[in-house]
Amino acid sequence: MKARIAVLPGDGIGPEVMPQALQALETIAKQFGHSFTFTHADVGGAAIDKTGRPLPDETLKLARESDAILLGAVGGYKWEGLAYDVRPERALLGLREQLGLFANLRPAKLYPMLADASTLKAEVITGTDLLVVRELTGGIYFGKPKGIEKTADGERGVNTEVYTTPEIVRIAKVAFEAARKRRKKVMSVDKANVLESSELWRRVVIGVAKDYPDVELSHLYVDNCAMQLIRNPRQFDVLVTTNLFGDILSDEAAMLTGSIGMLPSASIGSTVGMYEPIHGSAPDIAGKDLANPIATIASAAMMLSYSFNLDKEAAAIDRAILRVLEQGYRTKDIASSKTSPPERMVGTKEMGRLICQELGKA
Ligand code: IPM
Ligand code: MG
Repeated sequence: MKARIAVLPGDGIGPEVMPQALQALETIAKQFGHSFTFTHADVGGAAIDKTGRPLPDETLKLARESDAILLGAVGGYKWEGLAYDVRPERALLGLREQLGLFANLRPAKLYPMLADASTLKAEVITGTDLLVVRELTGGIYFGKPKGIEKTADGERGVNTEVYTTPEIVRIAKVAFEAARKRRKKVMSVDKANVLESSELWRRVVIGVAKDYPDVELSHLYVDNCAMQLIRNPRQFDVLVTTNLFGDILSDEAAMLTGSIGMLPSASIGSTVGMYEPIHGSAPDIAGKDLANPIATIASAAMMLSYSFNLDKEAAAIDRAILRVLEQGYRTKDIASSKTSPPERMVGTKEMGRLICQELGKA
């Protein structure tokens, strides 16, 4: 197959991990006889520096006209002082909103050999294999009214949590469909004991569940869910939740797998999907060849599977990652004294090379 891929490396470690993923895609293309065209564009802080805006029109246009988007990360200390509407993060929100990417899939699966790399006890996290389905274009991230206004005694900051029936229906469907391909369990996470928007959320999810009698639906309040995730993560299969709760819980879920440097994501909902590691730009380690490229390489694998239906190719990448980890190679974030002899500690580039080498063997 032929596919046009928009490549948006962004900021911080984004430009370091991106080439590793592209190299993996090239290797796959060669092996399976596909042709991928990569077109690079600026996004986030990198775009602000060149054009004054985090999501230039050309970047959005390229994204729209591509078959899929691979994004590194956005943000950094340098741009933190800017007004909200021109910060690097706006680029991500803009892409999600403009492209209608309402469903964000964040799988958190523990590679058994990384159990010691997590800050949590190995016996708690062993067997973790869950998927966070996060609503991505609604809720408090986009609700109106919003803003900061002057008042008699200072200022008033406002954001609005809002969900409509259609928004909840479509994200619930994504979760139920995903569960059908997994262990057939959906946990809907809300704050229905306090928030009206959550009361509606729960009611609508229960309604959608009627069309999926083969899938078991349960509900948790978000505070309890945060606790259950680190108490017994094995109980979860698919979690479906709002934009803000999903943002928070998916970072927590990442730590169950040893490192946030391991987790890929897919944002879907329109004709073009966007794929990115969930780790962010990590400005503190940028430029040092320390970043873990696995999340981005695994995001490329998700792209193959979700956007192009290339499941065999995606599985080949996942297997190559597994093999390299089996051989004991670790970037710093997933190293532990128990499992990583010092000579197997590798940097970003070497980790990428090893994964490609393993791919080449297949
Ligand atoms: C994420 C990030 C983004 C979000 C930020 C960078 C805007 O934390 O993708 O989880 O809050 O959605
Ligand atoms: Mg986040």
